[in-house]
Amino acid sequence: MQRGNSLPRSGPVLVPPLPPPPRRSCSKVPNCAGLPARRGGEGDWPAVPLSPGRKEPLSDMEYCEICLVVPPDALEAVTHLLHKAGTGGVVIDDESRGEVRAYLPRDERLSRRLAALRQELEDLVAFFPGMSELRQTERFVADEDWANAWREHFHPMRIGRRLLVAPTWEAVQPRSGELVLRLDPGMAFGTGTHASTVLCLRALEELIRPGCTVLDVGTGSGILAVAAAMLGAGAVTALDIDPLAVRIARQNVVVNGVEDRVHVHYAEVRDLLTTGLAPVQLCVANLTADILAEVAPDLGRALLPGGTLVASGMVGPGVPAVQSALQLAGLRPSREVRLDDWIAVWARQR
Ligand SMILES: C[S@@+](CC[C@H](N)C(=O)[O-])C[C@H]1O[C@@H](n2cnc3c(N)ncnc32)[C@H](O)[C@@H]1O
Repeated sequence: MQRGNSLPRSGPVLVPPLPPPPRRSCSKVPNCAGLPARRGGEGDWPAVPLSPGRKEPLSDMEYCEICLVVPPDALEAVTHLLHKAGTGGVVIDDESRGEVRAYLPRDERLSRRLAALRQELEDLVAFFPGMSELRQTERFVADEDWANAWREHFHPMRIGRRLLVAPTWEAVQPRSGELVLRLDPGMAFGTGTHASTVLCLRALEELIRPGCTVLDVGTGSGILAVAAAMLGAGAVTALDIDPLAVRIARQNVVVNGVEDRVHVHYAEVRDLLTTGLAPVQLCVANLTADILAEVAPDLGRALLPGGTLVASGMVGPGVPAVQSALQLAGLRPSREVRLDDWIAVWARQR
């Protein structure tokens, strides 16, 4: 099981850069008044104040490419670690040979992230003896080096009953009543090929009521936020702590013509709690078990009484800790849904 941007088994998945999002007038954006403007890729989009100590990266134009060769039975664990380390997507070049690539932005977080990742990979050797064959190389690449190759592997997909997710560059023929969600995910996670995303999209189809308010935590490409708006949400707030994902998500919001209902912020949940953008009726968070457990108290505060959280991005061992953290946050887990090895937990705010 892999958790990457797009998951064909037959070839590499790479991610292209995107042009900056179109500049938009603040006056057209609800919730903008009173929020301080921030520098760095925000354009005129509404901003929320950053938590103390968090800075934007120095550059999003260069990435550190990490190449690993791991035993096939360790692939899932390794891709999980790579994702946790902050890679937007993981490329499985050859599953049978265990060849994996991932990209981290070259910014002030890089050396800390690499050191933590190396340590965690070393810890895995105890569980996967073949991991002693692990080869790790790191090199810096510019966006253009891998700009177009991955596009060959992202094709239209039907998800749930009504959604047709398609690349911006491919023609589609929707069936009657189908909603076409156009995406250029670029470096960000979220094409709809990953089980954890599919679980969220299916949940959105089931849970969205006309005009409801939605929070998408860890929006990546913006896929869930855009889907929520298309399915009838009245106001969607999308967050990410990766500025490149924020930029890409905004572009996808505009491409799908839902910018009147979806606003993307470079922020974490706790940044929102004092802005009036929360609490909401429905929150979807496709993160990892560790992050979900960490942000559970904020997710609890971001939901209205009776509101629902869909927490996705877990494999089995991570679920109990997330369930406990959600309960401590005042949420009542109500449902567990699975696809492949991935699990999403639904929980209600009391
Ligand atoms: C697995 S991707 C999900 C993307 C998309 N929502 C989907 O379902 O395909 C997780 C995203 O969460 C972001 N993220 C990680 N920790 C976060 C946090 N504490 N607050 C907000 N976003 C976070 C990452 O940068 C990444 O873009």
